[in-house]
Amino acid sequence: MNMWKEIEAAPADAILGLTEAFKKDANPNKVNLGVGVFKDDNGTTPILNCIKTAEVKLAETETTKGYLPIPGSPAYAANVQKLLFGADSEVISSKRAATMHTPGGTGALRTGGDLLKKFNPDAKLWVSTPTWANHKGIFTAAGFAINDYPYYNPETKDVDFEGMLAALENVPAGDIVLMHVCCHNPTGVDLIGDQWDKVVELAKAKGWTPFLDFAYQGFGDSIEEDRAAIEKFAAAGIDFLVASSFSKNFGLYNERTGALTIVTPSAEETAVALSHVKLVVRVNYSNPPAHGGLAASAVLDDAVLYEQWIGEVAEMRVRIKEMRAALVDGLAARGVKQDFSFIKEQRGMFSFSGLSNDIVAWLKENKGIYIVNGGRINVAGLTSGNIDYVCDAIAEALNA
Ligand code: LMR
Repeated sequence: MNMWKEIEAAPADAILGLTEAFKKDANPNKVNLGVGVFKDDNGTTPILNCIKTAEVKLAETETTKGYLPIPGSPAYAANVQKLLFGADSEVISSKRAATMHTPGGTGALRTGGDLLKKFNPDAKLWVSTPTWANHKGIFTAAGFAINDYPYYNPETKDVDFEGMLAALENVPAGDIVLMHVCCHNPTGVDLIGDQWDKVVELAKAKGWTPFLDFAYQGFGDSIEEDRAAIEKFAAAGIDFLVASSFSKNFGLYNERTGALTIVTPSAEETAVALSHVKLVVRVNYSNPPAHGGLAASAVLDDAVLYEQWIGEVAEMRVRIKEMRAALVDGLAARGVKQDFSFIKEQRGMFSFSGLSNDIVAWLKENKGIYIVNGGRINVAGLTSGNIDYVCDAIAEALNA
């Protein structure tokens, strides 16, 4: 018996598969607006200057490549917690949080999923409609049945907050609700102000467990403002988890640098959770890869590099906002009737453009422009070199 002979090939990944197709495309004008990777105006994904400096320092001072502990370096965990909660947070002083250094945000989500499945095998996992293409896959692989709650209203181009709350009212105790802390992927629309308070109240009253995906800290407004929701969950004194990714805000994509933070009402419960998540990690990847975490930590530990990092995150944020405006204005200037002005208000890397899957397919076939199905555009992939080509192509597709 040949093992693979009768087996059908799997479909390409909805996001990373586009990059594979893009690389093979011979069109000299091709543009990859699929995967969420920051590009500067030259179309390259830079290594942040603060990281470069930290890496040089590391190379000079590192004395060993010995294993990290199962949760990773304690210094990294402490730095992650400062980013999540603020240095003076009660969560930190009362030791209510445990942080694991994980291989990227995906590793954090899967580790958390495996942990929760162990102790709550009948729980369902709730995701927003829509959500990041990989969320359902990760939690299905961890054994969860997936349910959806309303999130994006295509009519208002905003959060369907009433619909979301109504659904969350009915989530049974013990179920897990996955939420995006800021810069919702793929829609770019977030909860605002006291909307988060209402969600926190519901989580507390109903007893479901929030799992917060935090991949874009700093891409919305600032490092501090973007964590506002986390501070509210922390203040509620309930169980929740946070998956952090430093792919985007530190540019550490291929270093797979993320973290899973488990918050409980007390230091005692957190210690128990930590003991169990260590077992999950040990049988998955044993202990984390060190380099990305050490580099990020070296930046966070150094006042000068930290300031440089804040500046570099702000530069990325501003460039994306500028490209949002260029896209909206470029389409309007080409006589496109549809109003795309809402794209200027969206936050983070993505624009949920409203382009149909037919238009997305047409742009790929005819123009070599790659956009995720559902119409998500990586705005950070637009540059002054390709913006006219992209606007011309979208206008041609919509006016055809
Ligand atoms: C994205 O949404 O494009 C990024 O988070 C990259 C990925 O792994 O999908």
